[in-house]
Formats: sequence, C-alpha cells, structure tokens
Amino acid sequence: MKNIVILISGGGSNMAAIVKTARRDGWQDKFGARVAAVISNKASAQGLLFAQEQGLATGVLDHKAFGSREAFDEALAKEIDRYDEPGQPVLVVLAGFMRILTPGFVGRYAGRLLNIHPSLLPAFAGLHTQQRALDAGCKFAGATVHQVTADLDHGPILAQAVVPVLPGDTAEVLSARVLTQEHLIYPRVIAELLQKQ
Ligand code: GAR
Repeated sequence: MKNIVILISGGGSNMAAIVKTARRDGWQDKFGARVAAVISNKASAQGLLFAQEQGLATGVLDHKAFGSREAFDEALAKEIDRYDEPGQPVLVVLAGFMRILTPGFVGRYAGRLLNIHPSLLPAFAGLHTQQRALDAGCKFAGATVHQVTADLDHGPILAQAVVPVLPGDTAEVLSARVLTQEHLIYPRVIAELLQKQ
C-alpha cells in the first residue's frame, strides 16, 4: 500500500478535499494508495478534528519545542517515515503547512514532496499573496501545485488554476474563490501522480 502523509498547520480544507476525493474515487482499489496520516505543527489546527473524525492517524509535532529548524525537520521525517512500506516510499503532501523546510528535509523527499501555494507562481511566492495580487492590480489570481525544492515556492509546476479578480474583491473574498479551485486541482494532481507509479 502506498501511503500518503498530509502536513497541515490550520483549517485543513485542502487535506479534507484530498481525503474525500480519495474515498469517493476509490484510490485504495485504483492505485493501492491511501491517506495514512495527517500531521500538524500546531495542536490547535482545526483540520486535525476532521482527520480524527475520518478515523485517520493524526500527530502533532510542535515546532516550538525544537531548538532548530533541523531538529524539527529531523523529528518530522521520523514521524513520516513510519508510513514507508517496503518498496513504497511515502508521498508527502503539504496542505497549508506553514513552515519553511530545510534543504535536508526537502532532499530526503525529493520527487515525492508536493505543495499548494495560493498564487500563480512564480508570481507572489511567500505570504499575503491575495493582498499583493490586489495591490498589483492583477486581473487574475489563482493557485499552483508544485514539487517542493529547496528554492521556496519555486519547484516544478504540476498544475495551476486561474480565477478572475472581481471589482470590490478583498483579500478574504479572493482567497475563498482561489481555495475552491485548490480543492479541485490538488486531489487531481495527486491522482495523476499515483496513476503513473
Ligand atoms: C491554502 O490557501 C494554501 O494554498 C495556503 O494556505 C491555505 C491553507 O488552507 N498555503 C500557503 O500559503 C503555503 N505557502 P487549508 O488549511 O484550508 O487547506
């Protein structure tokens, strides 16, 4: 069985979209894959409740309890690697995981570490993407699913979704419009990757 481990820091709506799609589309039978665990760096992450309700394994690893980024990432990798199966390395999915990962961590999961970012990369890497898009007068905004590399928010692009910026949009309204598209493209990209394996 190919295990997918999803990392979150907050609401977890992308994680929930992936879990629901996996169930609805029968990833277990189709691809021999399942969402095995949801891990958060914050105990208060709302998404953990959904994961628990779904009967998924959950874990919390508080980054503040570690003396360095390297120490946190090392502990995180140890948690994740529990879900490796013989010949079936785990797929790691960042879904609103708001931590910068060390090059060591990124290298360890090279080619099997995905992220979703709420902008049309390479535009607006980093934080406050929708406010920056509004401030720049963009007519379109969107989201990007990409492979994670050591270069923050700049790995190879796997999919993008575009939404219009409408008159009167606030960052919150625009974020919500983008998020509905994130929920479609992220599960789709993961299914495509699983299909190829
Ligand atoms: C999503 O919009 C995701 O693209 C973004 O955080 C939100 C998480 O929502 N991620 C980043 O900004 C990463 N740099 P969710 O917890 O409801 O999935």
